[in-house]
Amino acid sequence: MMKNKKRLLCAVLMLLMVSSVWGIAVQISWYGRVSAGHRTEFTCSSSCFPNCVYSWTFKGRSVNGSTLTWTPDGQDDTVELQCIVHNPETGISSSTTTILEINNQMSVRVSPSNTAPILNQSLSLVCLNAGSGDPKGPSDLIWFKDGKKVTQDENTKFLQNNKTLHFDSVLPSDAGFYQCQTYLPSLQTRVISLGFLLSFDQWNVSISGPDSVFPGRLSEFTCLTSCTQNIECTVRWQFRGGFPIGTFFSANGNRIRWTPSIPGTFQNFNCVAENKAAGRSAEATKLVEVKGAPVSGSEAAKLHRLLLLMSFMGFKSLI
Ligand SMILES: *[C@@H]1O[C@H](CO)[C@@H](O)[C@H](O)[C@H]1NC(C)=O
Ligand SMILES: *[C@@H]1O[C@H](CO)[C@@H](O)[C@H](O)[C@H]1NC(C)=O
Ligand SMILES: *[C@@H]1O[C@H](CO)[C@@H](O)[C@H](O)[C@H]1NC(C)=O
Ligand SMILES: *[C@@H]1O[C@H](CO)[C@@H](O)[C@H](O)[C@H]1NC(C)=O
Repeated sequence: MMKNKKRLLCAVLMLLMVSSVWGIAVQISWYGRVSAGHRTEFTCSSSCFPNCVYSWTFKGRSVNGSTLTWTPDGQDDTVELQCIVHNPETGISSSTTTILEINNQMSVRVSPSNTAPILNQSLSLVCLNAGSGDPKGPSDLIWFKDGKKVTQDENTKFLQNNKTLHFDSVLPSDAGFYQCQTYLPSLQTRVISLGFLLSFDQWNVSISGPDSVFPGRLSEFTCLTSCTQNIECTVRWQFRGGFPIGTFFSANGNRIRWTPSIPGTFQNFNCVAENKAAGRSAEATKLVEVKGAPVSGSEAAKLHRLLLLMSFMGFKSLI
């Protein structure tokens, strides 16, 4: 028993020794967040006697030395960074890889913010946080649309040292993906911003739910929009031609729940998606038929009262 334990301990110790001989621990470290247009120093560390030889690879480039100084240019949002350690004494190499998440604070926004582009009206795009990482400030700020350099014309102007791209009257042909790029003189790097998609696409609005409903039976309708509700647009319901008659009705956000009561009638639902500040809206209409034989006015009122009473008494499932 004792002998077996000793043998096991011996085997474990040997394994530990082997791993410390064959595998050199390699570590990549840096301080803070890695950001486009900001310089970051990466350090690779390991232990070799008398010393290690370090090299780096990233984005198809190779650099020698235990430290690497790099300013991301905004093209990538993640980059694979590898450090290779070579021990000249033993001839053994080892490496480690880290995925860098690159933060880009440089971006393009509409000014004033929250305005949606409207055809034939003026529009400004601004380049935000250009050159914040360079003490000398940015220079050579240029704009790209769909990857091509933007030039000034009678409708398109660069203002405020090119930080603003202004359209006197924005046209369908101006739709596209906009980016700004700057040069950082002290870091000797170009940095490109995150992009902004300028689009005039109409919002799509539709109402889901049945085309025909039955008296006494609960039905549901939902207003579906291509704009993000409560962020890009808000949704409201309209009842042109009359408020829905029934034993139950609720309109909560983009959802309507309705238990109609009068057969043979029609109900119009109208859903409006809008952004008042941006002057944008779109709507959808749905005509719903309440099935069943039509009844006369006084009978309808009686039936309505009866259904109301029954629903109060919990007879919903019987109707
Ligand atoms: C890096 O070091 C290796 C080996 O010492 C050498 O062959 C190579 O040319 C060096 N590369 C650079 C970019 O300095
Ligand atoms: C924009 O202007 C053009 C001509 O200048 C006109 O044909 C078009 O109808 C206008 N569009 C809007 C949405 O006002
Ligand atoms: C403004 O843009 C033009 C054309 O893209 C460029 O030649 C010029 O250097 C820019 N100026 C500044 C101050 O960035
Ligand atoms: C709106 O709907 C049409 C047709 O269904 C579709 O082609 C278009 O891409 C949609 N647009 C948006 C912004 O969802």
